[in-house]
Amino acid sequence: MLPRVDFTTTQAFSYLADHYISINEKNLKELFQEDPQRFEKFSLYLKDILFDYSKNRIDEQTMALLVQLARECKLEDAIKAMFDGEKINETEGRQVLHTALRNQLDKAILVDGEDVMPSVREVLQRMKSFSQRVISGEWKGYSGKEITDVVNIGIGGSDLGPVMVTEALKSYKTRLNVHFVSNVDGTHIAETIKDLNPETTLFLIASKTFTTQETMANANTAKEWFLKSGAKDADVAKHFAALSTNDKGVSAFGIDTANMFGFWDWVGGRYSLWSAIGLSICLSVGYDNFEALLKGAYEADEHFKNTPFEENIPVVMALLGIWYNNFFEAESHAILPYDQYLHRFAAYFQQGDMESNGKYIDRNGKRVDYQTGPVIWGEPGTNGQHAFYQLIHQGTKLIPCDFIAPAISHNPIGNHHQLLLSNFFAQTEALMNGKSEEEVVAELEKAGKSKEEIDRLKPFKVFEGNRPTNSFLLKEITPESLGSLIALYEHKIFVQGIIWNIFSFDQWGVELGKQLANQILPELKGNENIESHDSSTNGLINQYKNWR
Ligand code: F6P
Repeated sequence: MLPRVDFTTTQAFSYLADHYISINEKNLKELFQEDPQRFEKFSLYLKDILFDYSKNRIDEQTMALLVQLARECKLEDAIKAMFDGEKINETEGRQVLHTALRNQLDKAILVDGEDVMPSVREVLQRMKSFSQRVISGEWKGYSGKEITDVVNIGIGGSDLGPVMVTEALKSYKTRLNVHFVSNVDGTHIAETIKDLNPETTLFLIASKTFTTQETMANANTAKEWFLKSGAKDADVAKHFAALSTNDKGVSAFGIDTANMFGFWDWVGGRYSLWSAIGLSICLSVGYDNFEALLKGAYEADEHFKNTPFEENIPVVMALLGIWYNNFFEAESHAILPYDQYLHRFAAYFQQGDMESNGKYIDRNGKRVDYQTGPVIWGEPGTNGQHAFYQLIHQGTKLIPCDFIAPAISHNPIGNHHQLLLSNFFAQTEALMNGKSEEEVVAELEKAGKSKEEIDRLKPFKVFEGNRPTNSFLLKEITPESLGSLIALYEHKIFVQGIIWNIFSFDQWGVELGKQLANQILPELKGNENIESHDSSTNGLINQYKNWR
């Protein structure tokens, strides 16, 4: 059982509340002036990943108190419980063992007394041989042609992780074109398959439950499209594979279970890219690169499990998030990768974080009286700079940001990478230092402005600064470093859930909308007026029926 500590009643919390008052008066710029060792004190490495958290509104006492908070919330016990395979997903009665999927040790991991590692390795082995056969062209479609295109049909965790990773590792691409269909909007599948050839297309139906409405609708449409091409039912086996925990559902759909890659209910949907759900990644970048991704994640797992909290990157990430969320009342957190390949990274962690920690009931079943998960958002730099950074720099909201960049580009064209990185370095510096009135006046004087003009313009041009950021500088985005980076964020989410005393591994909140959609679906047939809902919902449904 996970500990149940209301973090707002801890000693550390009350010390932090007092400490906040003094830190809130301080400016980051001053903190750097006071302490020339700040970077050395507040930066950490995990292999070729540098995590610089010195540009945060903290001092040594802040970090000591935050670590005390983690201890008082019994974080150590919770980490052990997760890695030991306790049923810490208590509301669903399940273990949380995505870490077993990337375990590189020859050591048993027990679920209900049974070692899961042989089955994990067996599925990996099958993913390896299947992906190698498809990539090499040995696997042929029904008319004897090689597969050229792969379409992964899945949604949420059965889509976002593979999309994010295949995009992030595009420079490692095999000869296969991998596409993703998630939305139940028919446009998504229609636009994806319209230029594909059924004879050379392989569909992966990715669904943990194999019941998700969107995925089943898209999978059925794909099958109809395939069969319409002249293929026979028996040919489905050459063009459809299933990634799922539900073998009955897979058979009922008409996919031979020989083409099924299984996983287990102790793998949460949003933590499933490491499982059979990662088959699209294997096909897209090759199995060896998938293996390197797992290895990178394992390295982050070991770091998380064995490093003292003070030097533990995910623990520090989580504690800083709590500092802003619960003391500075920051409502959101931006993830800003300075790498075009990472353009879906923030979207991926929107699900990872918000589906995990978007909860208002604590582990005792009581409503919390404090803030839990933040709104996660972000876009790659430098695009974001020309879109929403204005608000981060001069808006009224405090938005802590993670900046992420690789030192080495996969596309070293001209001076593009230096231009990109000059922006990466400049933004966190600008957010921290801002621009003082004196600097603004000097700049305007230099530009030859009159005194009146300077007085009029200066309030608009002053930047307060003091805006906190983390910087992740990676040597290079490789399968291994990406695996580590993802796992660091996963563990951050876990730590925050433990401290907020919520259950991070269920997602009951997404159920209600699904249930109501199922109730409404039959009402959309026929032309009769609907009166079973509130006036707004009735009005909308009836207008839709009128217009269609
Ligand atoms: O959105 C809810 C959810 O259950 C996610 O947690 C999950 O990733 C997604 O639906 C897809 O579920 P499945 O893999 O079972 O189709």
